[in-house]
Amino acid sequence: MRLILLGPPGAGKGTQAAFITEKFGIPQISTGDMLRAAVKAQTPLGLEAKKIMDTGGLVSDDIIIGLVRDRLEQPDCENGYLFDGFPRTIPQADALKEANIALDFVVEIVVPDENIIERMSGRRVHPASGRSYHVTFNPPKTPDVDDLTGEALVQRDDDREETVRHRLSVYQQQTRPLVDYYSGWAQSGDDNAPAFRQVSGVGSLEEIRQRIADALK
Ligand code: AP5
Ligand code: ZN
Repeated sequence: MRLILLGPPGAGKGTQAAFITEKFGIPQISTGDMLRAAVKAQTPLGLEAKKIMDTGGLVSDDIIIGLVRDRLEQPDCENGYLFDGFPRTIPQADALKEANIALDFVVEIVVPDENIIERMSGRRVHPASGRSYHVTFNPPKTPDVDDLTGEALVQRDDDREETVRHRLSVYQQQTRPLVDYYSGWAQSGDDNAPAFRQVSGVGSLEEIRQRIADALK
């Protein structure tokens, strides 16, 4: 299974990725998580990326495409993978297409802007794994502690309200065009096109999980 989870910041891509990767036994390839790991390790790439991520802008296509290309060479990608937060621009989608990767599905999680600010302000993450919680909608068993490791949860630096608003506008301008890109490709009759599915991301975590599971049948 090879699929893309598409959707705005805070749509629930990372949250729903957990059940999909478990169900199909595939890794989650989150370019956001990879960049945050580079920031934490203070690599040259991480130091450069942090400046951009803190403003809510996008890291350059060349850097991202290189990161993903290296990641796909890892042995755990043999049976498929889930892309979360990639591709995010038309050039990134073109690079994937040119690599002749046989994608099965593109799933867009649709969430209106008004729900997103509320989700981001209550988000808490486990930095090492990228696991996301929400103080109200998906609380950890113990406040501010990761359920699986017992380690501390933190707020992401880019979850400040003004940064979230900028990320939403960047999404509309640079990433939303991928909806037409993939729905148009799916309708073109090309056998290599992945199936395109849209699911509402408004509702309980369990409801959305069920919608995605149905969409992947
Ligand atoms: P990235 O990490 O990819 O961030 P994003 O796309 O903005 O998405 P988020 O991680 O914010 O949202 P999510 O959909 O995963 O939501 P989550 O499940 O956590 O990218 C960060 C930055 O890195 C970018 O801004 C950019 O600078 C750079 N970058 C990354 N990839 C790049 C690329 N390909 N090209 C260029 N630059 C790139 O859920 C959010 C919250 O809502 C959580 O608290 C969760 O508990 C809660 N929640 C989830 N579902 C529900 C629900 N149904 N009801 C209520 N609350 C819910
Ligand atoms: Zn995420």
